[in-house]
Amino acid sequence: MDLPHSDQGPHSGTPLILLHGYPLDHRMWSKVRDALVAAGHRIIVPDLRGFGKAPAGAGTMREYASDVLRLADRVGIQRFALAGFSMGGYVAMEVCRQAKGRIVGLALLDTRADADTDAAKQGRYQTIEKVKAQGIHVVAEAMLPKLVTKLDLKPEVNGWMLAQHSEGVIAALQAMATRVDSRETLATMNVPTLVIVGEKDEITPPALAEEMATLTKGKLVTVPGSAHLTPVEGAGVVGDAMVEWARQLS
Ligand code: MLT
Repeated sequence: MDLPHSDQGPHSGTPLILLHGYPLDHRMWSKVRDALVAAGHRIIVPDLRGFGKAPAGAGTMREYASDVLRLADRVGIQRFALAGFSMGGYVAMEVCRQAKGRIVGLALLDTRADADTDAAKQGRYQTIEKVKAQGIHVVAEAMLPKLVTKLDLKPEVNGWMLAQHSEGVIAALQAMATRVDSRETLATMNVPTLVIVGEKDEITPPALAEEMATLTKGKLVTVPGSAHLTPVEGAGVVGDAMVEWARQLS
């Protein structure tokens, strides 16, 4: 699938691709993207299949990752750095599995390396049934309190979720439920790695970030006071950490 995307910044140095989480789209990256572009980096931000302006399609993590590699080919980049937030992190780890040699840097934000437990899978299949019966607002209501704690951020983040299509959300739930464990993959990565987590992240808590930082021998940054959506709620800390990480890549 050809993903819609933005492509900003100078075409010199190492390009970076930023992958959004669920049930969101490219807009969650805008503040961090602006910081990286201002620091002189080329930043490519797609909508993953079924989100934002991207058409939905059957969902396995392999397909989401293939879309990203196809995008890299289309924009003419052989080697690039990859940052993935939450579900975007699952996609990033699958890209590492499919095309390790093309990845020159990895940033994993509020995500996890292990696969779903049976209970987590069950929860996702129940959510699929609820979305089919009642629509996307069920997911938005459950997710919003876990994404951001600051009241002034809630209306915008809620609007992003409500703008997504049920079909894309259902496909993503299926893909997340069937994803494989990525711990071995991470242990074989030998590129500058940054792991970021919100201090108050309940969806992918800090202990999971510590595990990924240990596996990758990466740098761990904890964002004080932030819930899951650190690129929005902790945009300043995340932007600074990613600019510093990106500087080592060029
Ligand atoms: C996300 O933020 O992308 C998802 O909540 C991740 C997940 O449900 O595992």
